[in-house]
Amino acid sequence: MAMAAVPLSAAGTGPRPGAGSPLVIAHRGASRHAPENTLAAVDAAYRRGLTWVENDVQRTKDGQLVVMHDATLKRTTDAEKVFPGRAPWRVGDFTAVEIARLDAGSWFGPRFAGERVPTLARYLRRLDHNDQRLLLEIKYPKAYPGIEAGVVRELRRRGWLNRAHVRSRLVVQSFCVACVKRVHQLVPQVRTGILGSPPPAGLARYARFVDEINPRMSALSSRWIKAVHRLRGPHGRPLEVYAWDVGKNTGVREARARGIEGVIT
Ligand code: G3P
Ligand code: CA
Repeated sequence: MAMAAVPLSAAGTGPRPGAGSPLVIAHRGASRHAPENTLAAVDAAYRRGLTWVENDVQRTKDGQLVVMHDATLKRTTDAEKVFPGRAPWRVGDFTAVEIARLDAGSWFGPRFAGERVPTLARYLRRLDHNDQRLLLEIKYPKAYPGIEAGVVRELRRRGWLNRAHVRSRLVVQSFCVACVKRVHQLVPQVRTGILGSPPPAGLARYARFVDEINPRMSALSSRWIKAVHRLRGPHGRPLEVYAWDVGKNTGVREARARGIEGVIT
């Protein structure tokens, strides 16, 4: 039987000003203060008291998992300079060793020069070191067939499927419903979420395998939130809502007013 996972709203120890306050999850790490999806961004979140961080995971040509948002390396690394002639610099066209050579910090600011694209393994290690928690997004799964099993394998290898992590330190989410369903089938004990705002009439089918539904803040309506909260997820608790695409202060205010569990900002 799957062990019960604690909802983020109960498990979170982030900067919550008071009981019932929305949980703040650092989007791509503290990506306003350090280059997104790097260890520097994780540390920046830690220094600001943010326990939960969100990241994006993809796969290299040789099957390593790396933390990166865009489908290409162009915007957030110096891949164009280091590997001219390898356009369009798709993540999946480069080996882990090649990606490890890239500077993933200079684009953000000179003091981050030399920051690397972290492997998922290194990223998890840093979160453990900082005692932080992870909302892990599987990015572009169609480009990486079988990535769900790879992610699960890596989480297991790094101790992230042990009782303590599963109970209150990990959620796996994606825009891809089939991908989230697959993760749930592989590790039903792990909390999962889908990104988006499916119509209320279709919500019940998601409740079989997701614990949270995470829309853009602008897509929220009271009716939709009520419809989500009415359902219970696979771990027997009401579904939760974490909204994104909104600034921190506005987001927290709006989340509180709307009665949702938190913001990814
Ligand atoms: O977690 C929500 C958010 O990360 C989804 O959008 O494009 O930033 O990955 P994106
Ligand atoms: Ca993301």
